[in-house]
Amino acid sequence: MCGIVGYLGERPVMPVLIKGLQRLEYRGYDSSGIAIVGGPTSSTEARANALQLFKRKGKVQDLIDHIGGAKPEGKVGIGHTRWATHGAPNDLNAHPHRSGNGRLALIHNGIIENYHAIKESLIQRGHTFESDTDTEVLVHLIEEILAGGDCDLFKAVRLALSEVDGAYAIAVVDATSPGEVVVARKSSPLVLGIGDGEYFIASDATPIVEYTKNVVYLEDEEVARISLEDGLKILTINNNTVTPVIEALEVEIEAIEKGGYEHFMLKEIHEQPRSIADCLRGRVRLDHGKITMAGIDDHTEMWTQAQRVIIVGCGTSWHAGLVAEYLFEDFARIPVEVEYASEFRYRNPVINKGDIVIAISQSGETADTLAAIRMAKERGAHIFGVCNVVGSSISREADSGAYTHAGPEIGVASTKAFTAQVTVLALLALRVGWLRGEVDSAMLARMMVELQAIPDKIEVLLSQEEKVREIAKAYCQAPNALFLGRGYNFPVALEGALKLKEISYIHAEGYPAAEIKHGPIALIDEDMPIFFVATQDAHYEKVVSNMQEVKARGGRIIAVVTRGDTQAAALANHVIEVPKTADALVPLLSTVPFQLLSYHIAVMLERNVDQPRNLAKSVTVE
Ligand code: F6R
Repeated sequence: MCGIVGYLGERPVMPVLIKGLQRLEYRGYDSSGIAIVGGPTSSTEARANALQLFKRKGKVQDLIDHIGGAKPEGKVGIGHTRWATHGAPNDLNAHPHRSGNGRLALIHNGIIENYHAIKESLIQRGHTFESDTDTEVLVHLIEEILAGGDCDLFKAVRLALSEVDGAYAIAVVDATSPGEVVVARKSSPLVLGIGDGEYFIASDATPIVEYTKNVVYLEDEEVARISLEDGLKILTINNNTVTPVIEALEVEIEAIEKGGYEHFMLKEIHEQPRSIADCLRGRVRLDHGKITMAGIDDHTEMWTQAQRVIIVGCGTSWHAGLVAEYLFEDFARIPVEVEYASEFRYRNPVINKGDIVIAISQSGETADTLAAIRMAKERGAHIFGVCNVVGSSISREADSGAYTHAGPEIGVASTKAFTAQVTVLALLALRVGWLRGEVDSAMLARMMVELQAIPDKIEVLLSQEEKVREIAKAYCQAPNALFLGRGYNFPVALEGALKLKEISYIHAEGYPAAEIKHGPIALIDEDMPIFFVATQDAHYEKVVSNMQEVKARGGRIIAVVTRGDTQAAALANHVIEVPKTADALVPLLSTVPFQLLSYHIAVMLERNVDQPRNLAKSVTVE
């Protein structure tokens, strides 16, 4: 959700913070703010008043306009871009939040669950609050502990956090100690960039990558003091010393810029041939006639013996999980259950020895998915993570896993991450099917060839963008839309509807095509566009019948069909052709027209495509 950023060093602080906020804006964009300390003041008293704080409702650009010609100076600063949880998006609720004496400023990503009780007791002890946020409570608590004496900021933060329930990534600065920042994390991500005499703090690597490739990922319940004089020191909340492990970032700066595209989403749609090729690279070994995946190959016996697979995820990742259900049933013959992580975590699921839980998450930070794997792990399941962000919480907490290698996805609507997830899951199902004797050499060879051909087939699809734009023009004013598919294309229908609603705000629903007879068919009239996926696969004839039913009721049909199709195409008002592939891989192709369609409709409606209202990229609160 929110993005946090910080800097200590010799560069002008404000530009580093602002650029960092712009890079992180996809995480939350209803308000933002910065605090800079250590300006050219001398006495301690003067410094206490030298917390230079700017915050504003709206986008980072609104903050920039608000700062105007002011040039806050200092060597240390923190910044925040917010996705509101407690308190409306407004100037007062924007972070950073200040202590009552104005000396401390704090930014926070997460939720302090017991903030109400803490706030009540602070009020009884004379504290007053400016905002409706849970975060402000924390900075007052730290202030009170500091005022008790016998304690520096580092310790005060640890003591305060030991009273807190919930999730947090925080950074705190103290105007009377202008060379340091104290940071901490629990269930919300935090990365520290280690430069030459300078330090960066961020929710993810995007604001850091252009300055340094050396990073330290803070773990849960770790608190770090970063000081320009003394360097980095990490302790757990319980005062155990942690030796920082410096890791190398593999992300390149080009990957997080728009590269000539109008929006990140469009760039990411067009990146899919490359991202899928990256995902396949080194895993599909046509020369050896096999698929290799370290995450499985290290646990072959477990996969061979597995009695059941439970897949957890949210949103688009959950849709990828639905595709995986078909893949695992077809190739690996293992019973599969696909669960919304948010439901699964609060159920009392029966988890047996030998069950494997696959957690699918682009960000690797989704709070519900993280909580679901923690619960499943406690109950004895093996956790296999399918994540995109390297070093993310889910990827680190999983027992094994496979990265999707899609590269950074900045547009809030997931596109290339979805197709990369489906690619990894197809590889997984085939590899496990092979290990279990369910997939023979001929089938494996055929599927590997089909997989290798997918990037080129997506290129072919992308070359039809103009046609998709024309269709978008015809339907962009529709208030509602239905997306229908069967078999492997049922999750594609759900994903198509999600894409359209989240970025265009057009109400859309996805259904298995046969289900419409059980209710949704009542919605059909000449104003309702119905998007069918009618590719020539095992369900083709059935889907064509469903199209007939819709046509008979005057519905306007837009059909995604296999290249050269005539039967389904004849029933449709508009047709988008996709190249032929194996049934199991059709979602990798049939999803793409819906991504383009949603994108162009949203652009035509002048929506904020990359940052749709109310959403955020990484949902780190439940
Ligand atoms: C939709 C979308 C969301 C995410 C969901 C899970 O386009 O992006 O539905 O798929 O929030 O996020 P991850 O995959 O990061 O766990």
